[in-house]
Amino acid sequence: MPDEQKQTPPVPQDQSSRREVFGKLGLGCMLAAGAGSLAFGYEFLSPNVLYEPSPITNAGKPDQYPVGSVTTNAEAGIYIVHGPEGFYALSATCTHLGCRTAWAPELGLIACPCHGSRFNQAGVKVAGPAPNPLPWLRVSISDEGDLIVDRSAVVPPRQFLRT
Ligand code: FES
Repeated sequence: MPDEQKQTPPVPQDQSSRREVFGKLGLGCMLAAGAGSLAFGYEFLSPNVLYEPSPITNAGKPDQYPVGSVTTNAEAGIYIVHGPEGFYALSATCTHLGCRTAWAPELGLIACPCHGSRFNQAGVKVAGPAPNPLPWLRVSISDEGDLIVDRSAVVPPRQFLRT
C-alpha cells in the first residue's frame, strides 16, 4: 500500500500536450518581442543621416568639348560650356521654381519647359519669370587632366577655366 502512495498519478495525454503548446507559444512570443526590440534598438542606434550623392562631377577630358559647344550632363544637372574665353559650368536648374532646363540648340538658348524662362549661354535670363541667372559652378582640372565640376560651389560669373 505505501508503494502505491509514492507513485504519481498518470498525467492524461491531452494535459501534457496542452502544456507543451503553451510553452511553445510563450517561447514564440518571447522571440518575437526580442526580435522587435533588436529592430527598434538598431533603428535607434543607427545614424540619422541622408546619404546624398557627391556634388563633384568628373566631366571627362576637355578636348571632347569643341569651342562654342554647350553640353548637357543630365545626370549631374549641369551644362559644360566651352566658350572662346574658356570653360565654365552652369546649373541646369531653373531659378524660378526649380524645373530642369534644357539646351535648345535651334534657339541658341537654354529653355525652361515649365513657365517659359530662357537663358543665354552665359546663364543670363533673356525671357520669362526666372528671377536670377543660372548659377555658375566651380570648374577645375584634376591631376589626370579631367574637368571637375563642383555643384556645391557657386562662383561669380565670368570665371573661365583656360586649359
Ligand atoms: S520653373 Fe522655370 S520658368 Fe518656372
